[in-house]
Amino acid sequence: MEPTANEVAGERFQTDNSKSTKQQPKQQLSKAMEHMRFAVTVDPIPRSSSTSTPTSPPPADTIPAQTASTAESDAYGVPASIAPIRKPAHRSHSPTNNQKRSDPFAFGSRYLEEGDDIFEFNAWDHVDVDPAYQSFSAEQFEKQRADPVSDFDKKRFNDNPEKWWNLFYKNNKTNFFKNRKWLAQEFPVLDEVTRAESAPAVVLEVGAGAGNSAFPILQKRQNEGLKIHACDFSKKAVELIRGHELYDPRYIQADVWDVAASPDAENGDLPPGLEEGSVDVVLMIFIFSALNPQQWDQAVRNVWRVLKPGGQVLFRDYGRGDLAQVRFKKGRYMEENFYVRGDGTRVYFFEKEELEEIWGGKPRPAQQTDGEANGEAEPVESAEKPASEEPSCDEAPRRPAFEIVHFGIDRRMLVNRQRRLKMYRCWMQAVFRKPGHQSEVPTSTLRQDKDREAAEGKDEQG
Ligand SMILES: C[S@@+](CC[C@H](N)C(=O)[O-])C[C@H]1O[C@@H](n2cnc3c(N)ncnc32)[C@H](O)[C@@H]1O
Repeated sequence: MEPTANEVAGERFQTDNSKSTKQQPKQQLSKAMEHMRFAVTVDPIPRSSSTSTPTSPPPADTIPAQTASTAESDAYGVPASIAPIRKPAHRSHSPTNNQKRSDPFAFGSRYLEEGDDIFEFNAWDHVDVDPAYQSFSAEQFEKQRADPVSDFDKKRFNDNPEKWWNLFYKNNKTNFFKNRKWLAQEFPVLDEVTRAESAPAVVLEVGAGAGNSAFPILQKRQNEGLKIHACDFSKKAVELIRGHELYDPRYIQADVWDVAASPDAENGDLPPGLEEGSVDVVLMIFIFSALNPQQWDQAVRNVWRVLKPGGQVLFRDYGRGDLAQVRFKKGRYMEENFYVRGDGTRVYFFEKEELEEIWGGKPRPAQQTDGEANGEAEPVESAEKPASEEPSCDEAPRRPAFEIVHFGIDRRMLVNRQRRLKMYRCWMQAVFRKPGHQSEVPTSTLRQDKDREAAEGKDEQG
């Protein structure tokens, strides 16, 4: 759920409230949710001292003014002494030229260079962690493994995951995630499908939650032929979408659907109104991480089934080593890179090669995979079919192989300037394409690829 650092609570359809001069509503989370505050609010530290954790720095108003303005603070157990790697000042790019953006989700090219003041901005792009952070993370992971979730609890959280998400939405309603208006920057096709002159398009959001990704797309819709299906396996989430002021069944339809359900199961149908091979774009934003690794194959098969040939998956999720993983404490580890949060919802942290294997059928490099370690590995069908051959849904292999059109690792350091905290985040994003040519929607680019090309172009020009 964290995607989403800085995404919440504030005003609807506002991307960042860290610099807004408008009065912000009070950011209130239920007590059970406090442990996630860092991930969803701009001000990650509870203001009330009674709720602060032992690793939280003292509230700013208790820090002597001079110290508050100079000293850095530990952030969620990560020592302040850990410093990001700085790039040498670019010959054609003075640190003073860094763009002054206030929106941490309008990213791209703010590189941390020698001489930069970390606390000048609220986010830095492409920040590499240094060896000290890596060994600190490794120590944390050792501690987590040494104190795993009990078998009893593991079963409780894995047997009925929608129950925990229902509880989550009951407690948080629409206030938890902030609208992801920035998503179209990451996946420009999300803007393209909204344009009046664009071809008709069917977008299916899987794990749509309260609609924080779907509604910003709907808001821009000028394309009469655009239909959004927003599905979630939590009926409470679906109720929230249906109850939203912008909900209009002509253009958006919310339904309960479990992306990991087997087609033979009672709930194994496709979402209402959708047939096999009928969707142009599947949006998966921080949903794949909510699945148990044993559900990945079925989820990939279902997404394949619902997509048109040439249809695409827009994917964004947690990367390994993200602060949300590093900071897990005792009793949360379920299996390698898979944890349960305090509210019973589960989260996995991915490696690039792992996602390439899951979605693209690419074998991982020599090392043993987590699946093999658990004896769960399944044969993976390789993507050997020529792209021109349009596989029918019936022929879909056991775990189909998508084309991996784009893959980006989004490493960012978010900064809380007031509290002088640095938070190292890591997200994976990708565009996976089902081979074929039936969908008329152009395959999305990825903002990161564009940035890289632009930067390379700049380098080439000196
Ligand atoms: C972290 S939230 C992300 C919500 C939304 N995508 C967003 O960006 O705001 C994960 C969502 O996935 C849903 N989810 C988890 N497992 C699912 C499954 N098997 N099928 C459908 N939805 C699922 C949860 O109910 C939850 O709403």
